[in-house]
Amino acid sequence: MSDVKRILVTGGNGQLGTELKRYAWPEGWAVTAIDIDELDLRDTAAIAAMVAKGHDGQPWAAVISAGAYTAVDKAESDIVTAWAVNAMAPAAFAESCANAGIPIVQVSTDYVFDGARDGAWEVTDPVAPLGVYGASKLGGELAVRTSGARHAIVRTAWVVSAHGNNFIKTMLRVGATNPTLRVVDDQHGSPTSATDLAAALATITMRLVEDSAAPTGTYHFSNAGAV
Ligand SMILES: NC(=O)c1ccc[n+]([C@@H]2O[C@H](COP(=O)([O-])OP(=O)(O)OC[C@H]3O[C@@H](n4cnc5c(N)ncnc54)[C@H](OP(=O)(O)O)[C@@H]3O)[C@@H](O)[C@H]2O)c1
Repeated sequence: MSDVKRILVTGGNGQLGTELKRYAWPEGWAVTAIDIDELDLRDTAAIAAMVAKGHDGQPWAAVISAGAYTAVDKAESDIVTAWAVNAMAPAAFAESCANAGIPIVQVSTDYVFDGARDGAWEVTDPVAPLGVYGASKLGGELAVRTSGARHAIVRTAWVVSAHGNNFIKTMLRVGATNPTLRVVDDQHGSPTSATDLAAALATITMRLVEDSAAPTGTYHFSNAGAV
């Protein structure tokens, strides 16, 4: 029997999941990062079974729910899938984590707000999503918050990394073949390194596992500055 504390991570092939795999977990900690080929997040029964089963005869130490339907524009016409992945899957994880007595860290987004703030969002600001993606992510938050599981909900923004899809990579690709680019100039945000976000999530998760009195609730994490 291993005494390694093993954390289940969803969205394992995404920007954040990749960085959670690459994170320098201290000795005694490990992650199992899964994606759709191992578990379809639309399958709530499979989620419950995976949490209950644990890993190698041991219970999971925690779940980091990073997997998501992140195609913001596509979500507008694919509402059922967006809600299944972004709301019902976190709900299934949270219920299963509550049953197993383990914490869940749910990754969420500034899209739960309406975008009408001049400056950084506060955790206490009222939520008012403008589209399906934000609404479905808020649904996931509410499910986790009311599940009874010890949890941290970590809202972040504009995640960028060397892998996967993001705004910077799109601009580099398009810029390589076009002499001029047309880009919206009314959107402001704080690009956030998936590496830094992974480190923050790892710290929060290990604290929740090790300290049953660790603070729980909703947090904002992004890199500093705005562009
Ligand atoms: N990207 C951002 O700018 C941003 C901003 C704020 C918050 N967030 C949040 O941060 C978290 C991580 O984002 P990210 O940038 O790492 O996203 P990402 O690169 O799009 O990764 C999401 C992962 O979830 C997987 N997934 C989607 N549908 C699935 C399904 N039905 N079953 C299993 N896996 C599924 C995706 O697989 P496929 O690629 O095969 O679909 C992908 O590997 C998400 O919770 C997101 O909502 C992201």
